[in-house]
Amino acid sequence: MIYQVPAHAREGAATPITSLERYRERAARAANDPDAFWLEVTKQRVAWRKSPSVGLEGDFHGIASGPLSWFADGELNVTESCLDRHLEARGDKTAILWEGDEPGQTRRLSYRELHAEVCKTANALAALGLQRGERAILYMGMVPEAAIAMLACARLGAIHSVVFGGFSAEALRERIRDCGAEIVITQDEGLRGGKRIPLKATTEQALEGCPSVRHVLVYKHTGADVPFVEGRDVWWHDVVDSASSSHEAVIVPAEHPLFILYTSGSTGHPKGVVHTSGGYLTYASYTHATVFDLREDDVFACVADVGWITGHSYIVYGPLANGATTLMFESVPTYPDAGRYWEMVERLGITIFYTAPTAIRALQAQGDEFVTRADRSSLRVLGTVGEPINPEAWIWYRDVVGEGRCAVVDTWWQTETGGIAISPIAPATPAKPGSATLPLPGIQASLRSPEGHALFGPARGLLCIDHPWPGQARTLWRDHERFVATYFSMVEGHYFTGDGCRRDEDGYYWITGRVDDVLNVAGHRMGTAEFEAALVSMDAIAEAAIVGYPHTIKGQGVYAYVVLQGEDEIDLTALNATCRTQIGAHARIDRVQVVPGLPKTRSGKVMRRILRKVAEGRGDELGDVSTLADPSVVEAIKGGFEGD
Ligand code: PRX
Repeated sequence: MIYQVPAHAREGAATPITSLERYRERAARAANDPDAFWLEVTKQRVAWRKSPSVGLEGDFHGIASGPLSWFADGELNVTESCLDRHLEARGDKTAILWEGDEPGQTRRLSYRELHAEVCKTANALAALGLQRGERAILYMGMVPEAAIAMLACARLGAIHSVVFGGFSAEALRERIRDCGAEIVITQDEGLRGGKRIPLKATTEQALEGCPSVRHVLVYKHTGADVPFVEGRDVWWHDVVDSASSSHEAVIVPAEHPLFILYTSGSTGHPKGVVHTSGGYLTYASYTHATVFDLREDDVFACVADVGWITGHSYIVYGPLANGATTLMFESVPTYPDAGRYWEMVERLGITIFYTAPTAIRALQAQGDEFVTRADRSSLRVLGTVGEPINPEAWIWYRDVVGEGRCAVVDTWWQTETGGIAISPIAPATPAKPGSATLPLPGIQASLRSPEGHALFGPARGLLCIDHPWPGQARTLWRDHERFVATYFSMVEGHYFTGDGCRRDEDGYYWITGRVDDVLNVAGHRMGTAEFEAALVSMDAIAEAAIVGYPHTIKGQGVYAYVVLQGEDEIDLTALNATCRTQIGAHARIDRVQVVPGLPKTRSGKVMRRILRKVAEGRGDELGDVSTLADPSVVEAIKGGFEGD
């Protein structure tokens, strides 16, 4: 589509967007000449050693022949943007503000201190043999050392892959093996809501059968007695504390991989999403500054975990590239009680707060008193991410938490997009509760029919992005074919997000959720296939099918249909014990129904549509089931529905 650029639109790509009119001008400029737009953005936001002269090379149509690139002739090290360049003007400014598991247990690292710690850690990792292009797996809790380790890898040109600390030993092993990590960085234990998370012990289990790992670097956090293998394992304090605090960053080309982050797909094993240096940093920095209306004295609090993309882009890379003060929060929203966030807002003077709708719904259910007893006058912008937000929760967030005076930004994006893609721009975009509103300038979103035809005006369809953007994933680790098949085969020449979406008469986007077999439970993305693989590994289970159903707090709940062998009953606790071992503590089934068989077509394909309808309590709306191999199982399934 060709947009008309108004003659007076002369401001730069980094000038704050202060009105909807300005937004439209900026979006039009970006769409008319993406290369010029993004080159301007990157030059303003990133400290390049060698400034790029080219924007995009390649396109979505040619993606099968290899990854596309942005700023290909540029050279940089992302940590120079995040650390070195701030030393002069912001050396004493707090870079990382850490709040531990116990309220008031804080640590502040200035940009100068963070720079020194990253240099020391980079020197220590180099001494352990970690080289440019090699992989380091991080399996840590929310301690500053997690961010330090990420940046230290980046400083060496090594590729980090952070695995969320809730994942099990088996899940961790799968990821270590997939990327062939040379080093694992972990800590003795994590802490969350007064509970100890045995990170090192789990790492130990995971390492059985991981010959690529030469060393394990262990940060001592709780001081617990943990397994320690002499020669292979190294204490952080033994090698980092004594290392030199100066380190010459390894300069890499723009497209050098920065990190791999595993995420769930609709089938098979987790996918190693690859993000590269120059484009990712440009995009994380641009979106962080633009969406949240970032100002120099902001205290930015994204309460996600660094194990997810939200933590990568909006705890570490975006805020640090922008010289902001970024919070790292070790605990949970309900520890010691449901007022923790707001007490923290008051005590730390948080100005921008970013969380998931699940947390908002859970806290809303606890009553307003937990919120109103804290002074929230420092807050200016409130954000949500990870799942659709229902209007009731959105309104509560705006009116009760934000006292009706804060901008609320519902930000839609994905591990693969690298950063926020559809979102209001605070406070310029007029909000509508429950809508992610409009694509950011530089993102060309479209809705399409299953046949791939573009839908215009108000419509419902598959959410696609039509033109590349710098923050997008480039490939899947050592599996470009799967990358192409997953994202570019549904609609040829367009990136398919996996989400369904509605666009209203004002052009606002309303994400309706995944249209593939991916669940979004409490903002966690999980593949039904991963659950099913765990269940059928149990002797008692012959077949299993997992679907989501609406859940008032978690957005989606997990509903399991199982066909047993040799038993009559199965205990939910036993199922969850298996999911916990094979996937992780966050993978929990809410309801289980034993069925005599799964509804299958004559060719053997499970008809999930039927299972979803029954799990949603809409078993009366099944429509035509005559194509099933055995239509009688449907009655049994409907009859055994596990509702409230
Ligand atoms: O379904 C969308 C949902 O989360 C998916 C991406 O999950 P993940 O890669 O884990 O990244 C989560 C954090 C960016 C999307 O395909 N999602 C994310 N944000 C929203 C959302 N759904 C509705 N509204 C959102 N704001």
